[in-house]
Amino acid sequence: MDLGTMTAQLERLRSDALDAVATAADPAALDAAQLAFLGRKGAITELLRGIGRLPAEDRPRMGAVGNEVREAVEAAVSERSRDLRGAALIARLAAEAVDVTTPGRRIARGTRHPIAETIAAIDEVFGRFGFVVYEGPEVEDDVTNFQMLNIPADHPARDLWDTLYVDIPDHLLRTHTSPGQIRVMRETRPPIRALLPGRCFRYEAVDASHGFEFFQVEGLMVDEGTSLADLKGLLEEFGHALFGVGRATRFRPGYYPFTEPSVAFDVGCVVCDGSGCPACGRTGWMTILGAGMVHPVVLRNGGIDPERYQGFAFGMGVERIAMLRHGVHDLRLFMENDLRFLEQFR
Ligand code: PHE
Repeated sequence: MDLGTMTAQLERLRSDALDAVATAADPAALDAAQLAFLGRKGAITELLRGIGRLPAEDRPRMGAVGNEVREAVEAAVSERSRDLRGAALIARLAAEAVDVTTPGRRIARGTRHPIAETIAAIDEVFGRFGFVVYEGPEVEDDVTNFQMLNIPADHPARDLWDTLYVDIPDHLLRTHTSPGQIRVMRETRPPIRALLPGRCFRYEAVDASHGFEFFQVEGLMVDEGTSLADLKGLLEEFGHALFGVGRATRFRPGYYPFTEPSVAFDVGCVVCDGSGCPACGRTGWMTILGAGMVHPVVLRNGGIDPERYQGFAFGMGVERIAMLRHGVHDLRLFMENDLRFLEQFR
């Protein structure tokens, strides 16, 4: 091969190589093009091996042109490589781009259930007077739920509590939180100031103001010289704390086998403010709890000497108080788990 032919071939290879490099679509294609022309068996490399067969005087010129072509192709490869990497980076940045103007997603916040919130409000008021929260079991025995509270088997007073029994003999779902009085008296010593919130159960037809499952908060105070006046003062404070300082309150005689005397505690109707409306049966009053002086028999059943100690107890229905606090007219709403209802009590 002579110098002219070789130069012509080299120039064609140069332009083929530059084409291949310029059109390589990705780093793999670029590597392949580089190998095809400049690799050990590449077309340019192979051609330049023929320099040795040229006449001696032509070799330096051919060598110089060969180097120039090789360098030109190498320069094109590195430039193309830089371009491809730049393009890949721009594509990745575009894919990962975050639109900082997109509005944030609202985080769903839970709310306290109105029954739990009401129990907490009740705890808070009595907590100021030194009452401490205890809890008793939901499955009680007949002795503690009734007999120790001065309600013998077959006593007509049992009709006040329609009872759900369980499969364990002499056990039932507690019909009220009052058995907690017995448990607290037996587990501690006077002076006692206990608050007993909890779920209770009765065999009842469900309607807007009755559930077969509901909450009560029981209170018990036992000390030397505890009197009905202490009970009245405490409950008046409670009524004012929950329903407003200006709220009228009154005590009426009541009956419970485990308190003597027994009272019902009323607050002025929160709907009509005492003038009389359908919500309060036109009486102007709403009964919020039952209470009384702990019967001496009950104190004795709790292991406490009624000659030395006196006590009072009260028990309130939480749903009823929550209804009055929040203007809810149907207690079934509290147990339906409808978020549209529950989320109102933030
Ligand atoms: N345990 C009574 C009830 O369920 C309420 C009560 C408690 C009354 C304590 C007097 C004293 O109706």
